[in-house]
Amino acid sequence: MFNLVKGTHDVIIDEARKYSYIETVLTKVAELYNYKEFRTPILETSELFLRSVGDSSDIVRKEMYTFLDKGGRSITLRPEITAGTIRSMVNNKLFAMEDYPVKGYYVGPNFRYERPQQGRYRQFNQFGVECVGVIKPERDSEIISMGYNALMMLGFENVTLKINTLGDDESRTKYREALKEYFSKYLDEMCEDCKERFELNILRILDCKVPHDIEIVKNAPKISDYLTESAKNSFEIVKKNLDDLGIPYEVDDSLVRGLDYYSGVVFEFHYTSSLGKNYGAIGAGGHYSNLVKEIGGPQVEGCGFAMGIERLASVMNDDNLFADLDDSLDVYLMPMGEKAVDASLLIANEIRMSGYSCEICLENKGFGQMFKKAERRKANYALIIGNEELETGVYTLKDMKTKEQFTVEKDKLIDKLDYEYGEGEYEHHHDHCDCGECSHE
Ligand code: HAM
Repeated sequence: MFNLVKGTHDVIIDEARKYSYIETVLTKVAELYNYKEFRTPILETSELFLRSVGDSSDIVRKEMYTFLDKGGRSITLRPEITAGTIRSMVNNKLFAMEDYPVKGYYVGPNFRYERPQQGRYRQFNQFGVECVGVIKPERDSEIISMGYNALMMLGFENVTLKINTLGDDESRTKYREALKEYFSKYLDEMCEDCKERFELNILRILDCKVPHDIEIVKNAPKISDYLTESAKNSFEIVKKNLDDLGIPYEVDDSLVRGLDYYSGVVFEFHYTSSLGKNYGAIGAGGHYSNLVKEIGGPQVEGCGFAMGIERLASVMNDDNLFADLDDSLDVYLMPMGEKAVDASLLIANEIRMSGYSCEICLENKGFGQMFKKAERRKANYALIIGNEELETGVYTLKDMKTKEQFTVEKDKLIDKLDYEYGEGEYEHHHDHCDCGECSHE
């Protein structure tokens, strides 16, 4: 027995099906907004994340899986996918034509050496989007609403959307000075992390979860008092757009986000499941002004968000939002006897190539056990083929729900399945038909 690496988890069978479903819905939403898929490597140079996520962020300082490869290069397992996506846009010269915006979506695993807890893993999956170009506030609003709509499409009803603005560079410079002045008075009584944040990225103090520090933060200067006219104006437009779209939100002026690349509007989606469980933000993102330039591209802005698939799956499980997911099997094929076993591969092939899922019972159990197995496999139909059926060329098909049993001519099996699944016509009368309607001599 080998244990899982701490903070990792297997996603198998039912859970994997749920993940696939979530990813299919989210991908569909991305396509509705005309985003194109980006599949970038999990391995990136460590430098990429120092430059983007930022060397003052917790992610870079404490959480990255970084190692030297055999060639002595510093490599990092990506802790998020924004940086890699922008890097690929730059490397593939997608900005060369200035055909803005460049829009990408992605799905895949990320790695952060965090303390594992409810909703927090060391390997976890994200779906996300990035939109890069000349970004107007309306584009920010469109992206926020895209995240919101995606959650609606997954069946969420009451999502809490928190938004804030970090302003432009000028607003933040002024705001940082005000925070420095304020927090320097309390620094001695604050936690060690805050002391570090004071030096590295003072805005992150606003995000501190230590009760005593929260009290100090309450009276700290607010970003809204330090915004330039244009930053204030952009934020007003975003709020108006969200109002017009009927998307409820809360302005949370302590929302600063843990990655260094943000400027302008930032946002998080929160949700408490019906079991009262909160797994942390289910999605988050924001606007970035200098990231593309930092990574070697032109001075263009961008906006995006990412959602945690694990957190979405947990909440959706609690709230029974997977209820409609169908994992039934179309046909459970039960060959009785050696000749039937021999014929079963060909019959199953025909069924599958016609688009119906099919499993053959080759375990040679008795009739009763086979039916039990068909039930466990959630089969809609059992197809029984014995020697007699092979000889006459007429099979027995049993509807596992109604327990109704039909006889079906070999050549009409697929027609019958089409008919049962609501497609096509089926002429069932035949020489051996026992439907009661047929009159055969
Ligand atoms: P983030 O807030 O670090 O942002 O992560 C986005 C989402 O990923 C979180 O809201 C959460 O659902 C999920 N997540 C993060 N860490 C974990 C974890 N340890 N375990 C499980 N789920 C987790 C970003 O990653 C940015 N790249 C988002 C973005 C895209 N901003 C602009 N574009």
